[in-house]
Amino acid sequence: MTHVIDAIKTRRSVRTYSSRKVPLSVLRRVLEAAGWAPSAHNAQPWRFIVLTRAVEKQTLAEAMAGAWMANLAKQGVTPQVRKNLCKASVERFTRAPMLIIACVTMEDMDRYADESRQRVERDLAVQSLGAAVQNLLLAAHACGLGACWYSASAFCKETVRKVLMIPEEVEPQALITLGYPAEKPRAPRRKQLQSYSYRDCWGRKL
Ligand SMILES: Cc1cc2nc3c(=O)[nH]c(=O)nc-3n(C[C@H](O)[C@H](O)[C@H](O)COP(=O)(O)O)c2cc1C
Repeated sequence: MTHVIDAIKTRRSVRTYSSRKVPLSVLRRVLEAAGWAPSAHNAQPWRFIVLTRAVEKQTLAEAMAGAWMANLAKQGVTPQVRKNLCKASVERFTRAPMLIIACVTMEDMDRYADESRQRVERDLAVQSLGAAVQNLLLAAHACGLGACWYSASAFCKETVRKVLMIPEEVEPQALITLGYPAEKPRAPRRKQLQSYSYRDCWGRKL
């Protein structure tokens, strides 16, 4: 029990990596741990796409940066600022030894005729994927790896789908960088327990 709580508290988002290769056996352990997450109906509605080849990482990073830059241009961000952000974004993802695209699929989830229950079912699938991603991060930490969960892919799902030729029934959600850490980040502050949990619906503190 203590081990799990220690792992939860000492895991950090690692954003810089050494060039040390991640053995396939370690990658398998991490992905297998992701697959032991709880899921609605035990449907296990996740798919993970692992990119390790430089050309694959570069293509994806450039495509995502392109989509982001188009949005920034619409917002009126200056070309020089866009150029700098674009470079930093591509470097962030190409320098990571591995990129994992965490996807959700409704394939084995229940199907409802009405839109409202179908929306709930989708929420359940995305919640399940979140649990799997957290397992993945904790397992990576336990194996001496570092990882960071990025939202970049969630803002350009169709771009990611096109580049990686992801089938229609699978939807890219999160992007995780993975590798051996080259930094030891400090723990960002957490909210006090009393500020986010209540003993009852009258707001009495724990
Ligand atoms: C859904 C989600 C999206 C995130 N997106 C990003 C991101 O786009 N860029 C980034 O640097 N970190 C991202 N993070 C990592 C958070 O910044 C990080 O978890 C938070 O600051 C707490 O730090 P810790 O993970 O080291 O405890 C994301 C985390 C989650 C759960």
